[in-house]
Amino acid sequence: MNDKKTILTGDRPTGKLHLGHYIGSLENRVKMQHECNQFIMIADMQALTDNAENPQKVRDNILELGLDYLSIGLDPKINTIFIQSSVPELSDLTMFYLNLVTVARLQRNPTVKTEIAQKGFEKSLPAGFLIYPVSQAADITAFKAQLVPVGEDQLPMIEQTNEVVRRFNHTYNSNVLVECEAVRSSVGRLIGTDGKSKMSKSLNNTIYLSDSSEEVKKKVMSMMTDPNHLRVEDPGKVEGNPVFEYLTAFDKDKEGLGDLKTRYQKGGVGDVEVKKRLIEVLEEFLTPIRERRAEFEKKPEEVMNILKEGGQKARLVAQQTLKDVRKAMNINYFND
Ligand code: TRP
Repeated sequence: MNDKKTILTGDRPTGKLHLGHYIGSLENRVKMQHECNQFIMIADMQALTDNAENPQKVRDNILELGLDYLSIGLDPKINTIFIQSSVPELSDLTMFYLNLVTVARLQRNPTVKTEIAQKGFEKSLPAGFLIYPVSQAADITAFKAQLVPVGEDQLPMIEQTNEVVRRFNHTYNSNVLVECEAVRSSVGRLIGTDGKSKMSKSLNNTIYLSDSSEEVKKKVMSMMTDPNHLRVEDPGKVEGNPVFEYLTAFDKDKEGLGDLKTRYQKGGVGDVEVKKRLIEVLEEFLTPIRERRAEFEKKPEEVMNILKEGGQKARLVAQQTLKDVRKAMNINYFND
C-alpha cells in the first residue's frame, strides 16, 4: 500500500452526477482505484457555502451522491468514501491555512469569480464561499494527496492548493505538506446536449448517470447537431457537434466511429442514424450502472454505513496530518 499514490477527490452534494462529471473526473477515479489509495469526499460543508438556507437539499443529495459513486463501480472495499463534515480536522486545517492566503488572491481565483457572478453574490458574498478554495486545500493536503482527478473548472483550486502548500512549508520551514497534481480527462470537457460549452444542471442540457432508458432516448433524439446539416446528403461537421463529441467520449468501436465520421463529413448520413448509434452506446454504458444502482437503492442503510465507516477511516489520516501541521507550526502545546 505504501508505494501507491494517494488520491483525494470529491463533489458537492447538490445534485445528481451527469455524463460531464463522468468524463471530467469519475472515469479516472474508476480507472485508478486499483493502483492508488483513493479518498472520495462528499463535500457537504463546501455545498453549504452557497446553500446555507437549504441544508435539507444538501442532506438529501448525500445518499444520491453515494449511490452515484457506488453505481459507477467505485468499490467501497478499496476506496475510502466519506462525508466532509465527518472529518472536523479539515476545519482546523482551513483556519490555519486562511492566514497564509490574501483576500485579493481569493477574489482572483477564476472559478470563484465566475461562480460569484453566476450566483449573484456580488453584493452579498458569504465569507465561507469566498474562502472555499482554502477549505479545498485542507481537503487535499489532509490526506497528503499527490493526485486529484478533476474537471477543468477545478484547475484553479489545484493551483491555489499548491500555493498554500509552498507557503506553509516555507513559512514553517517544514516539508509536511505535499504538492498535488490534477489528473485530467483524456477527452477534455463534455459539452451540453444543446451544444453549449458545458454540461450543467442550470443550463438544462445534461444526461444524468441515473437517467432511465426513456429519458436518455428522449434527450439524445432532441440533441443539437450541426445546424447547417439540413438534408441527409449535406456534408456535416463533426467538431463541436455534441452527438459526435459524446460518441468520441463513449463509443468503444473507434474504427466504426472513424468511418461514420468520414461518411458524415462527406454527406449522405442522417442525424437520426448517428443519434441511434449514440443511444446504443449510452445504453451499453449505463445498463450496468443502473443495475448496481438498483441493488444499492434497496439498502440505503448500507450505503450510509459505508459513508460512516469511510469517515472514521479518513479521520484517522487527517488527525495525523493535523498533528504534523501543529508540530511544524510549533503550536503543539502539550507535545501530543
Ligand atoms: N469543488 C468540488 C466540486 O464542486 C468539490 C471538492 C471539494 C473537491 N473538495 C475537493 C474536489 C477536493 C477535489 C478535491 O465539485
